[in-house]
Amino acid sequence: MPKLKRELGLLESTVYGVGIILGAGIYALIGQAAGVTGNSLWLSFAVGAVVASLTGLSYAELATMIPKAAAEYTWLKKTGSKLLGFLVGWLMSFAGVAAAATVALGFAGYFNGLFNMPITLVAIGLVLILSYINFRGIKDSSTFNIIFTGVEAIGLVIVILLGLTVIGKTEINYLEMTNGIGGVLSAATLVFFAYIGFEDIANIAEETKRPRRVLHKAFIASILLTTVLYILVSIATVSLANTGELAASNAPLALAVSKTFLGSNAFVVMSYIALFATANTVLIIISVTARMVYGMSVDGSLPKILARVHNSRKTPYTAIFLLTALSIIFILFGNLNVAAHMANIIAFIAFGLVNASLIWLRFKYPKMKRPFKSPVNIGKFPVLAFLGLLTCIFMIFQFELKIMLYTSIVLIAGMVVYYLMKRKVIA
Ligand code: ALA
Repeated sequence: MPKLKRELGLLESTVYGVGIILGAGIYALIGQAAGVTGNSLWLSFAVGAVVASLTGLSYAELATMIPKAAAEYTWLKKTGSKLLGFLVGWLMSFAGVAAAATVALGFAGYFNGLFNMPITLVAIGLVLILSYINFRGIKDSSTFNIIFTGVEAIGLVIVILLGLTVIGKTEINYLEMTNGIGGVLSAATLVFFAYIGFEDIANIAEETKRPRRVLHKAFIASILLTTVLYILVSIATVSLANTGELAASNAPLALAVSKTFLGSNAFVVMSYIALFATANTVLIIISVTARMVYGMSVDGSLPKILARVHNSRKTPYTAIFLLTALSIIFILFGNLNVAAHMANIIAFIAFGLVNASLIWLRFKYPKMKRPFKSPVNIGKFPVLAFLGLLTCIFMIFQFELKIMLYTSIVLIAGMVVYYLMKRKVIA
């Protein structure tokens, strides 16, 4: 079997991370979150950053210790539990589907603002087109990703700079919490979506040059960079537009910049940038998730049919087809809010498992080489991974009952598939 090629350095892997992280979370969900928590929106992003950073450090240790493409799945299997390995792969794949649907709906919201086309239809159209591109063989060209990520970041810098022109002139209390601390946490369960994607850096371990010396830096740099951008963007956004208007908008950042002296021109420019940002994210999410499904199938954890590679295109076409179908179902039955919450709660469960696996592996394989060790340890015990685990569990309990219920169904379905595969009822 041909091997993956090591072509990426620190810059490329960091930009890859930032490219997946920036997307619908900041461009589309920020409006609804502002409606929930008011001018203290930046606090919700800060809460998200704490969870992402604690978990990110665990990823940094594990990815440099065991740099494998099917990252989380491999790490959990290493703890000795095949079921946990399967479940984390299952959950990450499901989160990928929910995230693809969320970002596609975010894209459609901005598209609707520009061309007044039905949101569901546009979201489905986008998923179909991007899946086709993935099927044809998305060239993992980091140049392409660097350009798109640059455009996404420039859009956010524009919002920050325009925000600076009004900060100080408005009498805004940036600690005002419309719904108290509960509101800040509830908005955090939504905006955490904006941080999802850092974990995908682990999946390019086999395409990174000297991964043991590079990957941890890419994790830290990409989370740090996006945290700074998000906090500044949230302060700028509530300074430019009031939170009620933001909550009602499908294109909140475009609305915010249209309030400045630049007016409707800024709305159009920002909307186009948001289209780039979100389309790029959907493309990469489908590609990464297809790899996870394909990898699990090759390993015998999912039906063999999902390991098929197209003769001429050399892409995992059955996995891509399945993900496309599931994303469309999500778009049809869910909405932006539900899809994002589903992606987030599933990510918290998976991230909780990753933190737990780090703790476990510290004791099970104390001698294994760890080029990067998550800091703050009591003996072998990793304090930050433990806090990461606790914050993930805490966040899981902030979700609405409905979301918890849907997630339980996903988990139970995962266990059923695991046992059916184990007993070879399906293969
Ligand atoms: N973090 C990514 C986004 O916001 C998934 O679109």
